[in-house]
Amino acid sequence: MKKIQIAVDGPASSGKSTVAKIVARNLDLIYLDTGAMYRAATFVALQKETEDATKIIEYIKNHPLSFANRENGQEVFLGSDNVTEVIRTNEVTNAVSKISAISEIREFMVAEQQRIANQGGIIMDGRDIGTVVLPRADLKIFLIASVDERAERRYKENLSKGIPTDLERLKIEIAERDHKDSTREVSPLKQADDAVLLDSTGKTINDVVNFIEVKARELM
Ligand code: C5P
Repeated sequence: MKKIQIAVDGPASSGKSTVAKIVARNLDLIYLDTGAMYRAATFVALQKETEDATKIIEYIKNHPLSFANRENGQEVFLGSDNVTEVIRTNEVTNAVSKISAISEIREFMVAEQQRIANQGGIIMDGRDIGTVVLPRADLKIFLIASVDERAERRYKENLSKGIPTDLERLKIEIAERDHKDSTREVSPLKQADDAVLLDSTGKTINDVVNFIEVKARELM
């Protein structure tokens, strides 16, 4: 079977990682959550109280990022520290667009993502996968959904984790992050010319997974 590369890009909370994880399992592909990598860099920036890219990269070089697949999802490590939960806090979420807009940080992360992609068939989700990281991916999906629906999904997810959340505030934060991610100078969130646009508003996770798998199987 051909080792295919699938790029899934789209705005915050459009369901990219949820569907990419399922497709990875079903098609036996590596799954890489590139957002988690930028979140980890942001966590370092907040911990060290610095926006100096050299210092952030140096720290990550000394404490490499790694992932471990578990029954209930993927765990993220910085060196030996399990950062799975801390990279999802509001503090990190609200600072991540700023740190991920630093070009040196992006260069470092993209090189790392391309190195991982060379290891085999992969599905990667992010903002610039189809445009920058894997411009020759076999399949590119640009996954969108309305701000209201994305905020409601995130709201339910937070409730299930016991994180108190204000729905209206969430809508504003999601719209702000979309704006920052799409208007930044380096690698903005943008649909690749050859990406398939998929609007998941009103669709189930299964609908989206099936859509991607049908297309992927044609290429394998
Ligand atoms: O996907 P997730 O929402 O976890 O991504 C967090 C943030 O990381 C995004 O809002 C964006 O600023 C940044 N990001 C990026 N490029 C990627 C993936 C994520 O700039 N490939």
